[in-house]
Amino acid sequence: MTTDASTNPNKALWEKGDFTRIAESMRDSGEALVATLGITEGAKVLDVGCGDGTTALPAAQLGADVLGVDIASNLVAAGNARAQSAGLTNVRFQEGDASDLRDLEDDSFDLVVSMFGAMFAPRPLDVAKELVRVTRPGGRIVMGNWIPNDPTLVAQILKTSAAYSPPPPEGFVSPMTWGVEDEVTARFTAAGVPEENISFELDTYMFNFAGTPPELVGEFKAYYGPTMNAFEAAAADGREDELLAELEELFTAQNTTPGGDTTSIPATFMRVTVTV
Ligand SMILES: C[S@@+](CC[C@H](N)C(=O)[O-])C[C@H]1O[C@@H](n2cnc3c(N)ncnc32)[C@H](O)[C@@H]1O
Repeated sequence: MTTDASTNPNKALWEKGDFTRIAESMRDSGEALVATLGITEGAKVLDVGCGDGTTALPAAQLGADVLGVDIASNLVAAGNARAQSAGLTNVRFQEGDASDLRDLEDDSFDLVVSMFGAMFAPRPLDVAKELVRVTRPGGRIVMGNWIPNDPTLVAQILKTSAAYSPPPPEGFVSPMTWGVEDEVTARFTAAGVPEENISFELDTYMFNFAGTPPELVGEFKAYYGPTMNAFEAAAADGREDELLAELEELFTAQNTTPGGDTTSIPATFMRVTVTV
């Protein structure tokens, strides 16, 4: 299913930049995460909000039959190009919306993964329902979700970006609610999953970048939709320098590389596992 960015702000946000520029700093963690998923040869895997394949490609490299679905057409194209240049024929990417996976059949995947992807879709109750619908009975859903008010990198970038952006429209449900256990449990139980089949664990992604922390801020400013919007709103208020300084201080303070010539920043997330 394709939608039009001019009428879909969710799609427009992610097509605005080029998430590949950010994803390049997340490849090591994507691969490490996939190695923990118990993927076996021929397993049917769906990656929702897959971006350009940070987790989809490693899953295919382990022999799974992988479909990546993302709302952003530029990232779908980037994923297919990356798969082709890696010589992988068992992974493909197509456009779709996590809130309405109408092109996918019921019970068709052994494993549904969504690392910081489905959390950004509108209508979270529909998202949970759709993830459950396409997973076969006995299959699993694994989500990685950023956590509201967490002190580490991404939660803080999103919090700072929101503070400089115009208020969201009425009725908007924050993506960060996917990092709250009770909310996630309510969504999956409403989709028919028994509560005891839902578990939570804190996990960490590393952002590894060959430049300095302020240079990594530059990548977010130029290519990461939520930060790009925050800079536009800040510029309109004459507060662009303030936002830049705040983010540079955040990235520099969280960098764990001695000397700071390169960047290595851990970010905590909520790993949600649901057995359907
Ligand atoms: C932070 S990126 C993560 C991408 C990828 N999972 C990764 O780990 O690199 C968020 C992704 O979710 C996608 N996304 C946002 N809203 C979506 C929706 N409603 N349906 C499907 N994908 C969506 C974006 O286009 C983007 O690729």
